[in-house]
Amino acid sequence: MQTLEITQPDDGHLHVRDGATLSAVVKASAQQFGRAIIMPNLKPPVTTVSQAEAYYQRICAAVPDDQPFQPLMTLYLTDHTTPADIEQVAQSPLVYAVKYYPAGATTHSDAGVTDLRKVWPLLQAMADWGVPLLIHGEVTRRSIDVFDKEAVFIEEVLAPLLDAFPRLKVVLEHITTEQAVQFVLQGEDRLAATITAHHLLMNRNALFQGGIRPHHYCLPILKREQHRQALLYAISTGNPRFFLGTDSAPHLLAAKETACGCAGMYTAPLAMPLYAMAFESVNALDKLEAFASFYGADFYHLPRNQRTLTLQRTDWRVPDFYPVADNRVLPPYAGQTLTWQVVA
Ligand code: DOR
Ligand code: ZN
Repeated sequence: MQTLEITQPDDGHLHVRDGATLSAVVKASAQQFGRAIIMPNLKPPVTTVSQAEAYYQRICAAVPDDQPFQPLMTLYLTDHTTPADIEQVAQSPLVYAVKYYPAGATTHSDAGVTDLRKVWPLLQAMADWGVPLLIHGEVTRRSIDVFDKEAVFIEEVLAPLLDAFPRLKVVLEHITTEQAVQFVLQGEDRLAATITAHHLLMNRNALFQGGIRPHHYCLPILKREQHRQALLYAISTGNPRFFLGTDSAPHLLAAKETACGCAGMYTAPLAMPLYAMAFESVNALDKLEAFASFYGADFYHLPRNQRTLTLQRTDWRVPDFYPVADNRVLPPYAGQTLTWQVVA
């Protein structure tokens, strides 16, 4: 039986929501990850440091005592964020980054930035204070095909942004295309990208496998096989500017299985098994630890975790659903067999 003991990983991009959902989902992350960058797209969004600190307390209260887990908080950038907010982020021991959602790009992004020029002075403040900008990299124009939104964003928005702010640290989140992989490979050290397990394992056919599959709908949307291959290539290079970010994004069953379903896959309980399967598929299991446990920590100047996580090559069946109070969330691969399991 093959086992893999690695330094405990960190999740570089996680949605844990709030209230009953938070209580139900955060344990799955704490069982695998030492820390996670927590997305601020609550309703209403987390737009001030005091809100982020209050949210931090709610997350910590939901984590079991025997599972130390550190939420790394972020602030949601809006047209109304001020330079003083950025200074407070820089000085907060709990808040690590600012998240840029183009308004309308995804779930709970309506409060996002409508025009980057409105936040130009804030980007300079972030560069000056060394606060990383986390980017949902998709344009929102209706004329742009949904499968092209990331590639167009890189050309139209990201490249000029990096040129305009030569010291700004940027994470292009949940990349999905070969254009993103190439752009990051050719970029400077201050530019990194997170990669989800689902974009490594599924191409866009998974959206239509024998019928429409709402649980495979996420944003950025799954892409063609050639792009999935580019992501697999990225992780196989061992380049430190690609690191783990699950983008686990739970939605209650009724919000997914409906005429207009929400975007997001709840992958947290399966995260490390899915990543192990992806790395194994390209004979790169030796690169998993650095991707999952070193590069994200290094990017954020955090010490690497002290504990370890052990994975075993064993078949196990993904539950049909996970309970959330009286409700359910469904993970992808529900009822299916995965070939790696977390054992300790
Ligand atoms: O699929 C997604 N779900 N993509 C996002 O950018 C947001 C997330 C969510 O919050 O549900
Ligand atoms: Zn996300």
